[in-house]
Amino acid sequence: MICKQATIAVRSGLNDDEQYGCVVPPIHLSSTYNFLDFNEPRTHDYSRRSNPTRDVVQRALTELEGGAGTVLTNTGMSAIHMVTTMFLKPGDLLIAPHDCYGGSYRLFESLSKRGMYRVKFINQSNKIELKKVLTEKPKLVLIESPSNPLLRVVDIVDICQSAREVGAISMVDNTFLSPALQNPLALGADLVIHSCTKYLNGHSDVLAGAVIASNISVVKDLTWWANNIGVTGTAFDSYLLLRGLRTLELRISVAQKNAIEIINYLQKQPLVKKIYHPSLPENDGHEYALRQQRGFGAMLSFELNADTAHLRSFLKSLRLFTLAESLGGVESLISHAATMTHACMSTEARAKAGISDRLLRISVGIEHHEDLIADLDHAFWILSQN
Ligand SMILES: Cc1ncc(COP(=O)(O)O)c(C=O)c1O
Repeated sequence: MICKQATIAVRSGLNDDEQYGCVVPPIHLSSTYNFLDFNEPRTHDYSRRSNPTRDVVQRALTELEGGAGTVLTNTGMSAIHMVTTMFLKPGDLLIAPHDCYGGSYRLFESLSKRGMYRVKFINQSNKIELKKVLTEKPKLVLIESPSNPLLRVVDIVDICQSAREVGAISMVDNTFLSPALQNPLALGADLVIHSCTKYLNGHSDVLAGAVIASNISVVKDLTWWANNIGVTGTAFDSYLLLRGLRTLELRISVAQKNAIEIINYLQKQPLVKKIYHPSLPENDGHEYALRQQRGFGAMLSFELNADTAHLRSFLKSLRLFTLAESLGGVESLISHAATMTHACMSTEARAKAGISDRLLRISVGIEHHEDLIADLDHAFWILSQN
């Protein structure tokens, strides 16, 4: 069952505390737990393996994504690494989007160079290219939709179905939308990945990741691997994440409205060459966004027609948009993909993925939209004076 957003407060531990009836679930920081007797452990014996606070957030994420279970990890990257470690052996093939998150790109490339598995980065919008590579019988197919930073949307139903036909596991990185706007398992994916660092927590003060699986035996295996390699999420981060989840829907809905206001403003700026956002009919995969998303999201990118010096001065003039990596927090952030989030890709790989040196990405926050537009307006005014 996919849990409706309004019920998340109930699902995230409300009324779970039998001892005191705490409305906010208590945080269990203990790393270890006493045994009832010789060879008689309790539900929890050691927090790397399982922890009561982590259990609550795992249950909430399972219900939000409509899965069979969740494993909460200490970062989004460790979630991705754990899945590849579990499913791929030397020689096995992983298919990833050519414009995936730079950190995922770096992980796959570096481990494939060490012979841990093979990877092919492809344009998943190109159905012919996709079908061709699927004939090579990959073991795992990663989908990122919308992609980072160009907000390309791909046909999740079709890719998952085609992956299944060749015996591959499909996993969707749902970080950019969160379960408030998209549920990949309902679209046919086997696994959903999250960097909980982003929208799910929403306050830029937690690092965490999650894997939600549709199959209970996969959940059990992932749980075993998370303990085995020691990547489970901490109790304190779980506690903060639960708190963030309670406002997920509210935050996303305000941020989305702000994003549309910003797009309307940017469309009138002569120095803005191109805007990338799934709401735009000309955006790659707009038709799939209409079908598989419940909203267009609050991430957008645009090409600024300016040289490096002007780009720097534009970024320096902004006061409400902080120049920083990451996304999905209550505050608006702006980043330059080529020198920040996607700096670990080679110039050629960036060019192939369509990421130019003039591309700026905005993670729209929940400030008042008029303040955000005024800030942008001020920076464009400074730019026009140079
Ligand atoms: C789409 C996406 N997936 C995964 C990650 C990695 O998550 P984390 O930074 O929590 O390790 C990020 C980080 O920016 C991301 O944007």
